[in-house]
Amino acid sequence: MNLSTKYLGLTLAHPFMMGASPLADHLDTVKRLEDGGASAIVLRSLFEEQITMAESGRIHHMDPLDAQFAGTLAGFPMPDRFPLSPDDYLEHLRRAKAAVRIPVIASLNGTNSESWLRFALRIQEAGADALELNMYEVATNPDESSAAIEFQIRNVVVELKQSLKIPIAVKLGPFFTAFGHLASQLDQAHTDGLVLFNRFYQPDIDIREMKATPHLELSTSAELLLRLRWMALLHSRVRCSLALTGGVSTPTDGIKALLAGAHAVQIVSAIMRHGPPYFTAMREGLTRWMEAQELTSVDAFRGRVNGQPGDTEIAERANYIRTLQSWAPHAR
Ligand SMILES: Cc1cc2nc3c(=O)[nH]c(=O)nc-3n(C[C@H](O)[C@H](O)[C@H](O)COP(=O)(O)O)c2cc1C
Repeated sequence: MNLSTKYLGLTLAHPFMMGASPLADHLDTVKRLEDGGASAIVLRSLFEEQITMAESGRIHHMDPLDAQFAGTLAGFPMPDRFPLSPDDYLEHLRRAKAAVRIPVIASLNGTNSESWLRFALRIQEAGADALELNMYEVATNPDESSAAIEFQIRNVVVELKQSLKIPIAVKLGPFFTAFGHLASQLDQAHTDGLVLFNRFYQPDIDIREMKATPHLELSTSAELLLRLRWMALLHSRVRCSLALTGGVSTPTDGIKALLAGAHAVQIVSAIMRHGPPYFTAMREGLTRWMEAQELTSVDAFRGRVNGQPGDTEIAERANYIRTLQSWAPHAR
């Protein structure tokens, strides 16, 4: 049985890989992830703000020591509160690469196509097998159009593809007016992969203190359906690799991701809950299902449950109406 898959031009032994997280911050856990059965590892992100702060003492062109910007920048952690400085990150990457045989993917996280992106070259020199670029952004400026934001994202890809030899994947959130168009633009700009989707972290409100509080909960399978839908819609429409991230909690979830068209499936919350050996459980679950279905390779069924043929917008309307009509009260 052939569980192998191609992702960003890399051959992975099977589709289940470690997504970006603090779990790979230490060499011992990097090794435990490989021993536990991960087919590749994405390191945590290094942020644009960390890089510009280290290089120029500025964040988004503002000096945190300047009183007029103090309020705007107050929410950013001080440089010493990040577990890895930019230099530490490169050193950790080099050591991680030397410690394991599976691919190690570095992650940069930012929004602008500016000088911090040159750091990608240092990541390449440090030996990363690929670069994941997380473009986490919540567009709140009423003067900035969706087209301008998407153009900026595309520019980052164009710029990186001009300078890097290693493959790049772009990790995005789902909240774009025309995600299909953006995905196609990035595909045409020669991104090697798309990672769908960032979770949208939303602060809660503490009603006693009457203030917003940061809020991060591990995911559940409930987050999967949005990802499956877009994976299925994009699978036959873009040339680049597709990875699913968000809500993969069980082997069944992983199989659904593949049926929708994923080349790789990134897992974080489930590994935080169950530990690195859960990768082996995921792989075994996939193997058992493939045996039962008499499938001999992942390639044979990837994308089998994909988007509707024909006019997708009309098909989506039909889907929507059918879904609403499908509700029936259990008991009258
Ligand atoms: C504690 C924690 C830290 C994370 N750090 C990063 C990060 O540095 N960069 C990034 O792109 N994603 C980061 N993520 C997001 C994960 O890579 C992943 O996309 C998200 O958790 C959804 O996958 P899951 O449902 O398997 O958890 C983090 C997630 C968690 C829970």
